[in-house]
Amino acid sequence: MSTPPLASGPDGRDALRPLLGTVVDALAAGGRSRGGPLPAGGPETAAARIAEALGDVLPDDGDPDALRTLVHALAEGAADPSDPLCVAHLHCPPLAVATAADLAASALNPSLDSWDQAPAASALEAAVTRALAHAIGLADALVTTGGTESNQLALLLAREEHGGSIQLVCGANAHHSLSRATWLLGLPDPVVVPAPRGILDPAALHQALTRLPGPLLVAATAGTTDAGLIDPLPEIAGLCATHGARLHIDAAYGGGLLFSDRHRDKLAGLEAAHTVTLDLHKLGWQPVAAGLLAIARPHELAALHHHADYLNAQDDIEAGFPDLLGRSSRTSRRPDILKIAVTLKTLGRNGMGALVDQVCTRAREFAILVQEHPRFELYGRPVISTVLFRPTEATDAAVAAVRRRLLHDGRAILGRARPDGRRWLKATLLNPHTRPDDLAHLLKLVEGSTPR
Ligand SMILES: Cc1ncc(COP(=O)(O)O)c(C=O)c1O
Repeated sequence: MSTPPLASGPDGRDALRPLLGTVVDALAAGGRSRGGPLPAGGPETAAARIAEALGDVLPDDGDPDALRTLVHALAEGAADPSDPLCVAHLHCPPLAVATAADLAASALNPSLDSWDQAPAASALEAAVTRALAHAIGLADALVTTGGTESNQLALLLAREEHGGSIQLVCGANAHHSLSRATWLLGLPDPVVVPAPRGILDPAALHQALTRLPGPLLVAATAGTTDAGLIDPLPEIAGLCATHGARLHIDAAYGGGLLFSDRHRDKLAGLEAAHTVTLDLHKLGWQPVAAGLLAIARPHELAALHHHADYLNAQDDIEAGFPDLLGRSSRTSRRPDILKIAVTLKTLGRNGMGALVDQVCTRAREFAILVQEHPRFELYGRPVISTVLFRPTEATDAAVAAVRRRLLHDGRAILGRARPDGRRWLKATLLNPHTRPDDLAHLLKLVEGSTPR
């Protein structure tokens, strides 16, 4: 076998072009043979198909058809977020333009741990992160792998600012990554405040902040994982100011509302936070990973400073080379900012806002369909694009069984949530191409799969 070609350099274009043809054809063929939002047959069938396509993982002699075979198998066995009936999670269908930009990032492979590996990418990251932070009233932002890393970094910055005794106070509706981060960072276990009806109760928060000794870090949520609800941010910000508590807002889901003239007001209060988690692989149509942590006080980033002579020698910094190590706790880092920058510039704020409006409208329409259907119950009016619903009079076990049956048959991917002690089906609408007919079809499928 001759030496395989590289993705960049003088031969990159001629090498990549036919391979891209193979990839897009295999994606299409695999999707056709799946014929629905996910493969039928459940975990055993999916694993058997992959084992068959994979064969020997490291054969003595390579297989030139491996790209086609494995991309086809991956597409055939995918839970495809571009299918209107794939609505379980905050798992968005990426835009074609964002995915194409991500290919360029893979081809050039800039690594954002030092300027000499990423001259343009580091400048792009600095400009775009600042602009996104300014869009929500904060000063700067770090790029992360998603909401989990952003929440963890927020707690790390709080600990470095206020000490290891800092106490996290969050709602029962907060994402599990926050309590996990307290464990990882050696912080006290969080104090969990009730969140009746899915949002943090300000009266209970006031009591907790009055009772607890400082230092305190309150984490509020703009876009809860289970129901897409938004905590009363201005009220929470006011309580934090009164009690001298630091405020983090996890807007991993709801942050995308910033693009929409119609929905941006729901984020009022975000600008009062010390740190804000954003995540454009949710309501931002990016391939994973596209997380950000926005910060109000850039000087706090000094806590992340780290010296490694081969990456950020002091004399290089004095000579004007940017020190990138302090912009992440990772070392090698992909330029995930490229796909974000390309998407924002291609669509503009109006284009992004139209996508947000579209999925929020679909969620409202789906909620109305549920509400008007005599055999279904609606949890509540959607605030972003999540709709919780259940067949009337079904037991919790029956609700769980409907979901598993649809998964097993490869017909629909619905989520599940337990916001009030009862089990609900969850539809998280993130696909701007979904049509009202698709929603009616989804409801019919659920109705037809519910045991009587
Ligand atoms: C509110 C919220 N925060 C954080 C996360 C974690 O994000 P990621 O999966 O990108 O780490 C999620 C994931 O769904 C979320 O819903």
